[in-house]
Amino acid sequence: MISPHGAAALSPRLVADPDKAAALAAAARSLPQVTLSSAAAANAVMLGAGYFTPLAGYMDLADALSVADDMHTRSGLFWPVPVLNLLPAAAADGIKVGARVALTDPNVAGGPVLAVQEVTAVETVSEAQRAQIAERVFGTLDAGHPGVATFRAQGDVLLAGPIEVLNYSYFQTDFPATFRTAPEIRQAMAAQGWDKVVAFQTRNPMHRAHEELCRMAMDDLETDGLLIHMLLGKLKPGDIPAEVRDAAIRAMVAGYFPANRVMVAGYGFDMLYAGPREALLHALFRQNCGCSHLIVGRDHAGVGDYYGAFDAQAIFDQIPPDALQIKIYRADHTAWSKKLGRVVMMRDAPDHSADDFILLSGTRVRELLSAGTAPPAEFSRPEVAQILMDYYQSLNQSPSNAAGNQS
Ligand code: ADX
Repeated sequence: MISPHGAAALSPRLVADPDKAAALAAAARSLPQVTLSSAAAANAVMLGAGYFTPLAGYMDLADALSVADDMHTRSGLFWPVPVLNLLPAAAADGIKVGARVALTDPNVAGGPVLAVQEVTAVETVSEAQRAQIAERVFGTLDAGHPGVATFRAQGDVLLAGPIEVLNYSYFQTDFPATFRTAPEIRQAMAAQGWDKVVAFQTRNPMHRAHEELCRMAMDDLETDGLLIHMLLGKLKPGDIPAEVRDAAIRAMVAGYFPANRVMVAGYGFDMLYAGPREALLHALFRQNCGCSHLIVGRDHAGVGDYYGAFDAQAIFDQIPPDALQIKIYRADHTAWSKKLGRVVMMRDAPDHSADDFILLSGTRVRELLSAGTAPPAEFSRPEVAQILMDYYQSLNQSPSNAAGNQS
C-alpha cells in the first residue's frame, strides 16, 4: 500500500492509551483554557485522526506564510494549506511561549477539552499577512467567498505548537458508522486485500453522474476498491447536511455497487471551498488513508465562479513531481447522454451539443426536490431522490431551518 505523506508510518495525535488520555484530561483541568475556532478544532481532529501525518500540530507564522506562498514548510515538507490555530487577541491574552493550554471544543455543548497544545510561538498576524495567506490559498480576497469569510473571522493571533488530542469532537458521536480515522481506513482496506484504491471526495449527495464517474475511475484504473470519503464538518448554508448526504450515498451504494468493492467513510473537517489548494490537501490526506488515486472532476472543492472548472486538476501539474505519491484521476464534466442512453464524460462524446445531455443546475434540482418532484431517473436514482425530497420537504415544514444547515 502507498506510504503516508512524508513519513514511513502514520502519526495520529490522538492519545490512544486510556490511562494516558485520562491523565492528560485531568492535567488539562488546571491549564489555561482556549476556545478554538471551528476551523482550528477541525484541524485538531484531522491531526488526531492521522490524516495530517506527518504534522504534529499547528504551524507558526513563518510556516504558514511559506505554505501559503509556495506550498512547503520551512523544513521542506510539501503542504498546500496552512494548519492554524488563530484566535482573537483577547482570547490569547497572557499565553506565553512554553505554556501548555487546554483547547476547548466550540462545536460540542459545554466546550469539553479537545486537545492540549504545547505553545511554541504566539504571533500576531498582520492584516497584510492575513490577506497574503487568504489570497494565496483561496485565490481571492472577496469576503463573499465562504472560505475567505471563515478565515477572516478567526482572529489574528496564532498559537503554534504540537498537540495531543483527546477525542474526535462530534464526528465520532454523531457519525459512528461513518467517521473513520486514517489508520482505520488503511486497516479496513488491508483486511479487504485492497492495494490499488481510488478515493471519491464529496460534500454532496451522489447522483447518477457521480456514481458513474466512480465506476469509470474503478474500471479505467483497474482498482481493487473505491473509497467514498465524505466531509462531515461544516458547510456553507444551502449545502446538504452530512447526515442526509450519508443516507443518500449509502442508499446508492447498497442498490448499485457490489459491497466488497466500495467503502463509505467520512472525515471530520470543515469545507474550505479553496478549489485547487483544497484538492491538493484532499489528495494528501487520501494518500495518508492508503489510496493510490483521488478522483478530481469538474470544479473540485469549488464554490461560485471563483475557480476555473479544471483548475483543481491543473494545479497537480504545477507541483513538483515528487510532492505527493498519490495520483489523480482526471474526470471531465460527466452527464447523461440522451443520444447514447448512458452517463458519459463530455470528452468522450465530441459529437454532442449541450442539448444532448441532461444538465440540471443545483438550483433546479433543489426546486424539484423541494416541490416533492423527483429529478429524472437518468439524473438521480429514485432511492437517492426520495431521501433528498424528504429532507427538502422537512425544511419546507420548518422554514427557520431553511437558511442554514451548518452541520
Ligand atoms: S467537492 O466540493 O467535495 O469537491 P462535490 O461533492 O460536488 O464537491 O464533488 C465531488 C467530486 O466529483 C469532485 O471531484 C468534483 O470535481 C466531481 N464532480 C462533481 N460533479 C461532477 C460532474 N458533473 N462532472 C465531473 N465531475 C464532477
